[in-house]
Amino acid sequence: MMDKLIIFDTTLRDGEQAPGASLNPAEKLEIAHVLQELGVDVIEAGFPISSPGDLESVKQIAKAIKGSIICGLARAIKTDIDAVAEGIKPAKRGRIHVFLATSKIHMQYKLKKAEDEIMRLAIESVRYARKFCPDVEFSPEDATRSDRDFLYRVLEAVIKEGATTVNIPDTVGYTQPEEYGSLIHGIKNNVPNISKAIISTHCHNDLGMGVANSLEAIKAGARQVECTINGIGERAGNASMEEIVMNVKTRKDIFGGLEVNITTQQIYKASRLVSKLTGFVVAPNKAIVGGNAFRHESGIHQDGVLKERSTYEIIKPEDVGFTGTGIVLGKHSGRHALAERLKDLGFSLTQEELVKVNERFKILADKKKTIFDDDLISIVEDEIKLIKPVWKLESFQVNSGTKVAPQAEVCLKYKNKILCGKSSGDGPVDACFKAIDKITTTKCELQDYRIEAVTQGKDALGEVSLKLKAKGKVVTSRGSSTDIIESSVRAYINALNKIESL
Ligand code: KIV
Ligand code: ZN
Repeated sequence: MMDKLIIFDTTLRDGEQAPGASLNPAEKLEIAHVLQELGVDVIEAGFPISSPGDLESVKQIAKAIKGSIICGLARAIKTDIDAVAEGIKPAKRGRIHVFLATSKIHMQYKLKKAEDEIMRLAIESVRYARKFCPDVEFSPEDATRSDRDFLYRVLEAVIKEGATTVNIPDTVGYTQPEEYGSLIHGIKNNVPNISKAIISTHCHNDLGMGVANSLEAIKAGARQVECTINGIGERAGNASMEEIVMNVKTRKDIFGGLEVNITTQQIYKASRLVSKLTGFVVAPNKAIVGGNAFRHESGIHQDGVLKERSTYEIIKPEDVGFTGTGIVLGKHSGRHALAERLKDLGFSLTQEELVKVNERFKILADKKKTIFDDDLISIVEDEIKLIKPVWKLESFQVNSGTKVAPQAEVCLKYKNKILCGKSSGDGPVDACFKAIDKITTTKCELQDYRIEAVTQGKDALGEVSLKLKAKGKVVTSRGSSTDIIESSVRAYINALNKIESL
């Protein structure tokens, strides 16, 4: 049998714990669909005890996704395990993931419990979880700072109770590759029943070592890797899935041809979606999915690539679904060509959605000579909303310049009525936002605002990402247009609609 590496994606659980990365249930479900298309083996869909919304979301995902194992997280507490059991009930294949800290520092200060009590709780919680599900994972939280002998004993005990996966979290991103590899070796050599369980890695990125540590663990024999799309997660994030997968696939000479289920051609699409829905912009120099990851700027490099791609390219961009900025369509391209191109980019749209995207495409084609793939992706992401919009942009007008105080009038459609508001502001964008606040009578706090060009050229689409707080909720959203004021207005309205949907 081929040696297989299990990909456990925790974008929807640890990834969503990243400060400001709030996702609503519809968005989580959309990400889960893309994770399934990617071929992820296990999807950690949430932490059901944390809120009724999280429980519902895990249930929805368990109902809809049949191609991956659906997992939920629980502390070593019966009510937590009950909540996961309920959440994963509709799943074709479910998993309960129980965690309990084993490091002295966590036991003493956080849990205020001694070793024997931790041992008892670990045993009882796995025994209890096994009553609901044959697939149980146990994580000794802060494993890398735990006493090794105690860790070995806990792992032996939970495997005896039926844990089928033992995950070794580097909870605070403290370990180094060699040290983590030696820990995995230590577990293999000192836990007598280890052959009955799969060893898993879970690395955080506080020292920037998340991926390196995970890869070292794989070399040492770990056969499950926990990771997130774009490496999002608590603090500095988790190990990034795309980097781990492409390391294993690209360096077969080192990873011994390990089988990995991932359809790598879907990676770029998944990255864009997670970035859009969380509002976390991917840095241009990010490995595998950054905008510059496959761009060659220096003349020498360009010349080399034109003569022979492998001179400067170790991965073919198309292998990760990166379509680059090749000219794709123009003003005269028909709807059929548009639909075909969108299909190539991995989007399967309904007729109704295609009509909407086509309308925006035609408007853009009137303003912009060449439409790139990234322009198309941006239109689709902007147009195909997961939530029913309460507010829709009807029109806006701004007056701004060096000698006038910026003024804006915005008109929004609300329940078939057109409502307009006027305001001045510190700049045209601020004036528009204030005018919208007047219409919606919502007190909003803009916590973050960024703008970037989707493609190159003076006529490029400008994409605005912002973070907005209103009604006690914080959301992130995006909007795009060739006009950056319009992008800003669209992003602001998208954020308000998202808040209404939560
Ligand atoms: O980082 C961590 O320790 C975790 C556990 C819950 C697995 O996320
Ligand atoms: Zn974690």
